[in-house]
Amino acid sequence: MNPRNFRIGILGGGQLAKMTAISARKLGFEVLTLDPSPEPPASQVAKHIRGDFRNPHDIRKFSDMCDVMVLDIENVSVEDFYASEEHIAKKLIPSPEVVIKIKDKFLQKKIVSENGVPTPRFDTFPPSKEKFDFPVVQKLRIGGYDGRGVKIVNSEKEFILDRHTYLEEFVNIKKELAVIVAIDRRGNYVVYPVVEMVFDRKANILDYLVVPARIPKDVEESAKKVALKSAQSFSSPGIFAVEMFWIGNNTVLFNEIAPRPHNSGHYTIEACYTSQFEQIVRIAVGLPLGSPELISPCVMINLLGEGEGEPYYEGLEEVLAIPGVSVHIYGKSKVFPFRKMGHITILDKDVESAIEKARFVKSKVKVKGK
Ligand SMILES: Nc1ncnc2c1ncn2[C@@H]1O[C@H](COP(=O)(O)OP(=O)(O)OP(=O)(O)O)[C@@H](O)[C@H]1O
Ligand SMILES: [Mg+2]
Repeated sequence: MNPRNFRIGILGGGQLAKMTAISARKLGFEVLTLDPSPEPPASQVAKHIRGDFRNPHDIRKFSDMCDVMVLDIENVSVEDFYASEEHIAKKLIPSPEVVIKIKDKFLQKKIVSENGVPTPRFDTFPPSKEKFDFPVVQKLRIGGYDGRGVKIVNSEKEFILDRHTYLEEFVNIKKELAVIVAIDRRGNYVVYPVVEMVFDRKANILDYLVVPARIPKDVEESAKKVALKSAQSFSSPGIFAVEMFWIGNNTVLFNEIAPRPHNSGHYTIEACYTSQFEQIVRIAVGLPLGSPELISPCVMINLLGEGEGEPYYEGLEEVLAIPGVSVHIYGKSKVFPFRKMGHITILDKDVESAIEKARFVKSKVKVKGK
């Protein structure tokens, strides 16, 4: 094969597209991205086509330019292709059918649960089968992200009434875990290490990710099993990121799945033999899956915006001098509070020293607005 003659299209041009494009370029492939904004992050490394991934007409035109297509975001309009345009449907990994199922969080949970994976009890809103006590968790079916589609409801009058939502039992979480699963076109798979997501409960945001997760061996095995079974529920090739709750003993519950590379897998770039981004490229073009083996313990922190306007990065010089620290700046043209502007991976001989370095890094690097 000559990779230069093979064009990989990415629906969306954000940071996931950018990192996918870098991996594709490394292997010599041509990369195109479809995004409505004039200069999205991926336009730094791929041929950028301006258009809307929520518009089937734009996707149709874009698909003519690509041999295969992958996702930066699952909120894409692929309903038409699933129904009637098989030649376009065939180009997309994961399949349009799977995108439709996964982008509705109620439907994805129903499918995974019917496949025998344990989840918190859940129901439609208003509930038709289950009875819930307060607090109960109410979630947007479509379009929620970074916790923005999730509400802990303490009384009847707090329910969201004007959006399409569903309900979930509130569970006491011991640790939040995540696992990336890669499945190729033949159904071969690899399962990545278990990631521990540490939250800042006061600010209600993800503080940092730790790999390997500090959990007992049997919990690790349960998490990997839940992740694999969840991903296999959709019978499609692709990269699947599975978020889970460890609630004690060795009980691990499925929370949600994304049909694409994910923030919880960014660490794989430096810390694994094959990154989640190279893996989706390999799957898309039909190359064999790479080893997901962990090379080193690590911690990953997100760089979230603190100001508004043109971004200005503080403290980079100081943290770049630290061995094992790897900085990723996505290149977004505007910053606003809590926007994901980049991430930093810290490798070290053990998790505890990596966490210590991560705390220092976090205190030094700021993304402000000018
Ligand atoms: N059933 C539940 N019981 C208790 N806490 C929950 C439950 N569901 C979600 N949460 C909490 O809310 C957070 C966000 O929920 P979820 O992951 O479903 O939504 P999200 O909008 O996709 O968030 P993100 O994009 O950050 O992953 C979870 O990480 C967890 O801390
Ligand atoms: Mg989540």
